Amino acid sequence: METIRHVPVLTNEIINILSLSDDLKLVVDATVGLGGHAYALLSTFPDIKLLGLDQDETALEIAYERLKPFGERVLLVKSNFRFIDDVVKNHFRSVAVDAILFDLGVSSLQIDDEERGFSFNKPGPIDMRMDREAKVTAFDIINNYCIKDLSDIFYKYGEERYSRQIAKAIVRYREQKGLIASTAELVEIIRRALPAKIQRQMGKHPARRVFQALRIVVNDELGALESGLKNSLGCLRSGGHLIVISYHSLEDRIVKHSFKDWEKEGIGKIFSKKPILPKREEIEGNPRSRSAKLRVLIKS
Ligand SMILES: C[S@@+](CC[C@H](N)C(=O)[O-])C[C@H]1O[C@@H](n2cnc3c(N)ncnc32)[C@H](O)[C@@H]1O
Repeated sequence: METIRHVPVLTNEIINILSLSDDLKLVVDATVGLGGHAYALLSTFPDIKLLGLDQDETALEIAYERLKPFGERVLLVKSNFRFIDDVVKNHFRSVAVDAILFDLGVSSLQIDDEERGFSFNKPGPIDMRMDREAKVTAFDIINNYCIKDLSDIFYKYGEERYSRQIAKAIVRYREQKGLIASTAELVEIIRRALPAKIQRQMGKHPARRVFQALRIVVNDELGALESGLKNSLGCLRSGGHLIVISYHSLEDRIVKHSFKDWEKEGIGKIFSKKPILPKREEIEGNPRSRSAKLRVLIKS
């Protein structure tokens, strides 16, 4: 299988935090992806067993090959992490693990493959499902939602200021030309909907926020995150570490507020008030890490 690189983010910081753990035996990587973090953890901590989850079958196949040298210390399961507690119960005899890691968002495997439709830089079908067995694709949303619903999701999940102009342009295009089939077509509609001056002011790619919104809705990313964090509490031992890396403000807000509420309720203690950010050298070597924020809760 072709080697696909996905440089894991904030790995040293995660290892340093877990090194403080008194008894690290069972670790869950809730987003094992291409196995980058898992590889680093299994190499650094020779006594651990790791349960890796991902909803993307292709990612799991790659992780499986990469983590083969660790033999029976690794178990990989295709599952949405919202069911993390059930997966732990079914696969580890113990129901209380020592650490759980969430590295949210998409992997380079998903972004770089134009057939998956995640990238506004690559022409492909408008798909965006992380779990290819899921029923709803971004194509269904783009071609069926009304102006109000499109505008609402672009605003809510993409924080897109020009959500209504873009939604109107999409529906107008559908009425005149029929179905919108490719990411390139969608990007072009967004470009045409926004005056050149506004596009210049946006700084980043004009389709970035719409693509983020679609991805979040197709995969119910925020709903899965809320459930996944909550259900993690049910399978983490007292003193265990819940470690989350987020990449945009909507995700980070959920992590930050959940942790704050749980600290108030005496369920856990926040490891550091401010999120841990990648150092300049890491960002230079891996631009994807630029927006990463690491937060940790230690269960009481
Ligand atoms: C940023 S990548 C993880 C990369 C991984 N840490 C590594 O080092 O290779 C995020 C992964 O999480 C998976 N994912 C996202 N949301 C998920 C969910 N709700 N349930 C299970 N997997 C999910 C994606 O399919 C993707 O493979």
